[in-house]
Amino acid sequence: MSERLEDIAVRMVAGGRGLLAADESTGTIGKRFDTIGLQSTETSRRDYREMLFRTEDAMRQYISGAILYEETLHQKAADGTPFVDIIRAADSIPGIKVDIGAKPMAAYPGETITEGLDGLAERLAKYYEAGARFAKWRGVIAISPTLPTWGSMKANAHALARYAALCQQANIVPIVEPECLMDGKPGDHNIDRCAEVTEWTLRTVFEELADARVSLEGMILKPNMVIDGKNARKASVAEVAERTVEVLKRTVPSAVPGIAFLSGGQSSEEATAHLSAINSGYDLPWAVTFSYGRALQDTALKAWGGKPENVAAGQRAFAHRAEMNSLAAKGSWKKDLEQAA
Ligand code: 13P
Repeated sequence: MSERLEDIAVRMVAGGRGLLAADESTGTIGKRFDTIGLQSTETSRRDYREMLFRTEDAMRQYISGAILYEETLHQKAADGTPFVDIIRAADSIPGIKVDIGAKPMAAYPGETITEGLDGLAERLAKYYEAGARFAKWRGVIAISPTLPTWGSMKANAHALARYAALCQQANIVPIVEPECLMDGKPGDHNIDRCAEVTEWTLRTVFEELADARVSLEGMILKPNMVIDGKNARKASVAEVAERTVEVLKRTVPSAVPGIAFLSGGQSSEEATAHLSAINSGYDLPWAVTFSYGRALQDTALKAWGGKPENVAAGQRAFAHRAEMNSLAAKGSWKKDLEQAA
């Protein structure tokens, strides 16, 4: 298997496969487990993620790579097999979240700056050693009538670009994720405002990537879709697709091999429907697929419920969403396939 950045980046987005974002920090997975009344321990986190990674047929057919949290990268399944080996055995690529979170930004109330650049070069060398071939860093852009500010925009785009350059130096493909929030507070902005902020964000990010000498061929972009805020849902699936494609075409160079969307709090089926609409009816210069966390996992987590006897049910739910999103990545998802299942 080629180890060139460009080839890994293409593998991450090709053939209707997409990424499983299973990189919830210990705090975030704890919140997810709260919804099923399960205590988050190293063992329960292992059992849950083992269930996903061992859904072997679905992983092989639909999941090109799994984004892991540091604990998971080094973790072993109950029988002692490293997760990294299980993922690779399904012809999928292990990746790693390397930022250490979005922290309140000094002097910028209501905005955050993502941290984790200090010592990153050394950490990346260790992650490569442990088997990671791509990484993720998420910058967060809050939307309100007065936000984002230029100061926060610039700082987050700069950090994303510095991260991406360090990854490429370590022979790791960077997933560059600037997320304009749909589910933050107040969440009542409309699709026009989301389009305006997303376009500004992506333009700023690609300027910073150029200044940091990041190779566009060796990266993946993970953006939000252009969508109404969570408290203002109105736009049709067709409109979300049209507005999203418009903004991406204006801002994302065609040298970028792939775009893998985050789901950002959309329901599982919405995230699938939007991706499918984006992939049908438009002539796109990039491969466009999914890098979903909640939209791939929510139904599986619920079906599992933390009970060993429900592992098969959890795997069926995960396999179903993975298959639906793979169809969407080829523009051929249909709503009746959901009902049939
Ligand atoms: P969601 O798809 O749940 O938004 O998660 C994707 C992700 O990796 C966010 O950083």
